[in-house]
Amino acid sequence: MAFHNLYGGTYTLLTSTLKKFGIETTLIPLTADDEEVRRAFRPNTKLLFGETIGNPGVEVLDIQRAASLAHEAGVPLFVDNTFATPYLCRPIEHGADIVIHSATKYLDGHATSLGGFIVDSGRFNWENGKFPHLTEEDPNYHGLSYTRAFGAKAFAVKARAVFLRDFGTTLSPFNAFLINLGTETLHLRMQRHSENALAIAKALQKNPQVEWVRYPLLPESSTYELTQKYLPLGGSGIISFGIKGNWQVSKEFINKLQLASLVVHVGDLRTHVLHPASMTHRQLSVEAQKKAGILENMIRLSVGIENVTDILKDLEQALHT
Ligand SMILES: Cc1ncc(COP(=O)(O)O)c(C=O)c1O
Repeated sequence: MAFHNLYGGTYTLLTSTLKKFGIETTLIPLTADDEEVRRAFRPNTKLLFGETIGNPGVEVLDIQRAASLAHEAGVPLFVDNTFATPYLCRPIEHGADIVIHSATKYLDGHATSLGGFIVDSGRFNWENGKFPHLTEEDPNYHGLSYTRAFGAKAFAVKARAVFLRDFGTTLSPFNAFLINLGTETLHLRMQRHSENALAIAKALQKNPQVEWVRYPLLPESSTYELTQKYLPLGGSGIISFGIKGNWQVSKEFINKLQLASLVVHVGDLRTHVLHPASMTHRQLSVEAQKKAGILENMIRLSVGIENVTDILKDLEQALHT
């Protein structure tokens, strides 16, 4: 089961690719109340999944609530913490069981590497009868039971020993080196990304050509209170906003940008823009885009660590010419 406001690639993985492997996903709105969430769990549900900060709607997940609903149903909460990074939010401290990161984004921070992390809290009780693949004997390893042999490390060991080997999701050593270098400046970069993004979100709000702006730290944000709770050090670098007029107007704006570049990437030290409806979320139907909060005029801005005045000047010249 997953909250609906997901990165487009994750949405397609859950609703299409995994379906072909016999794994179905029930999508629920982030605004679903506790009863709606409870009703959506099925007897065979294995996990609840959400993004700390949704891509690209930048809504903040109530991790504690999601964790308690998942645990009530006997399943773990998985959180994609890519946009927040461990500097801004540590979901395990709020009850999440497994945290994943696309290290390709802020952790590397320089757009040099592809990689991902899985962080296992080691706290989830896999022995509640719902996870036989971790508790029952595995004939491929001479009858080993992962929970009996590895205890709190059962999930992490199986992920490495079986899935990493079988599916080939192995980080190249050079990318590991580069991502490690990146994490050494993560705290500095996330501070600057957050400061720059807040200043830009406020400036965009004041611009008469801008119809709407979403950023977790704007008081108008639908999840502003959750931002206070889960992101006390900053709101990260992603803003989404809409320009008045049709999509053609937004396209012209993007083409006029000089400092910010049009790329599908997000979360590195340079400022980027993209149009989710025609890029990251293009595979979704119009109906699915609506449910995921993707508006036709939505522009996603990944605010870099350049001088904020330079970024603002660039946005303003593109909005005004
Ligand atoms: C929130 C989020 N999760 C996961 C991913 C997938 O990352 P990767 O390309 O490193 O697999 C992305 C990519 O944009 C993302 O934005």
